[in-house]
Amino acid sequence: MSRTWWKWVIYAGSIAALIVSASFTIYCAWKVYAYHQPGEGAAAEAEKNAFHFVLVPEELDNDYWRLVEQGAKAAAKETGVYLEYAGPRQANIDEHIHILEKAAASKVDGIMTQGLTEKEFTPVINHIVEKNIPVVTIDTDAPTSKRTAYIGTDNYYAGFIAGRALEEDMHGKANVAIITGSFTASNQQLRVQGFKDAVKEEKGIHIVAVEESHITRVQAAEKAYNILKKHPEVNAFYGTSALDAIGIAKVVEQFHREKGTYIIGFDTLPETIRYLQKGTIHATVVQEPYEMGYRAVKMMVDIRKGNNVPSVINTETKVIRKQDLPLRPSRNYEVNHD
Ligand code: BGC
Repeated sequence: MSRTWWKWVIYAGSIAALIVSASFTIYCAWKVYAYHQPGEGAAAEAEKNAFHFVLVPEELDNDYWRLVEQGAKAAAKETGVYLEYAGPRQANIDEHIHILEKAAASKVDGIMTQGLTEKEFTPVINHIVEKNIPVVTIDTDAPTSKRTAYIGTDNYYAGFIAGRALEEDMHGKANVAIITGSFTASNQQLRVQGFKDAVKEEKGIHIVAVEESHITRVQAAEKAYNILKKHPEVNAFYGTSALDAIGIAKVVEQFHREKGTYIIGFDTLPETIRYLQKGTIHATVVQEPYEMGYRAVKMMVDIRKGNNVPSVINTETKVIRKQDLPLRPSRNYEVNHD
C-alpha cells in the first residue's frame, strides 16, 4: 500500500476520534446543566420542598428535649426540611420568648414550641401567626392562641393516671410530696391538678408538700432533701417533669429510705429506667417525645402545603412499672404499642 493511502487512513481516524470525543464532552456538559436546572431531577425536587423550620424547646441540653429533636430531625431528613434547634441553655421564659421573636424576625417557614404560660406565650404566638408564620405547639399547648395545632401529651390525663397508680400501689394510704418542674408552666400545673383530682376522694392520701425544681435534677434533689428533713412522715413522692424523680431517687437512697418510700415520676430517660429496674423508682408516666418531634415536622410540612391538619393530636401516655420492662430501647422507651 502506498504512503499516501496510509496518510489518508490516519487523517480520517483522527477526525473520527475528534468527533467522538467532542460529542462526549457536549453530552457531559448537557447532563451537568440539566441537573442544576430548577424543576428537573431529584435534587431540584428536594430544593422545592426545602422549608426552614425552627424547633424551640424549653431547655436545649435536656435529655427529654434531645429526644424531641431526634424525632424532628428524622422527619426533616425524610421531607427535605432545613430544621434548626434553638432555645435557652437552661429553662428561662424571657430567653425562650426572645428566641421565638428572633426566629419570627428571620422569616422562617414554621415554628414549633411549647405554650408554657398563657400570659407570656399566647401573645407571642399570636404575633408570629399574624406574620404568616404557622406555629405548632408541642408538649405543652397554648389552647387560646392562634397556633394551628398541638401535638403532645394530654397533661391533665397524664397527671390523673399518675394519681390513680399511686393510690393503687399504696393501697389508698400515703403521705405524698409533689416536686413539680415549675409552678407556672401549664403542663406542670395540669399534671399536678390531674393527680390531685385522682386522689381527692381517698381519705388515706394526704398531700403534705408541693415544691418546684425548675426542671433540674439538682433542685429536685435539694427539695426532696428538705422535705424528708422537715416531713419525715412522707412515704411517697410524685415528680412531674423528666428529671424530678431522678433527683428524688438519689436523695431517697442517701437517706436509705428506698424500702419505705414510693416514687412515681415522668418519662423514660435511661436514668429513670435504671432506677425503675433497681426498684428505687416504682412507676413512671411514659410520654412520646420522639414521636412529638417527628409528627410536628410532618404536620408543619402539611400546613405549608395547605393540607388540613387536626388541631389537637394527643400522643400516647401510660404508667409503667418494673414488671413492664424491658420496653423497646429502639423506640426510646416510648409507649409499647404491642
Ligand atoms: C416535660 C417537658 C419538660 C421536661 C423537663 C418533661 O416531662 O414534658 O415539658 O421540659 O420534662 O425535663
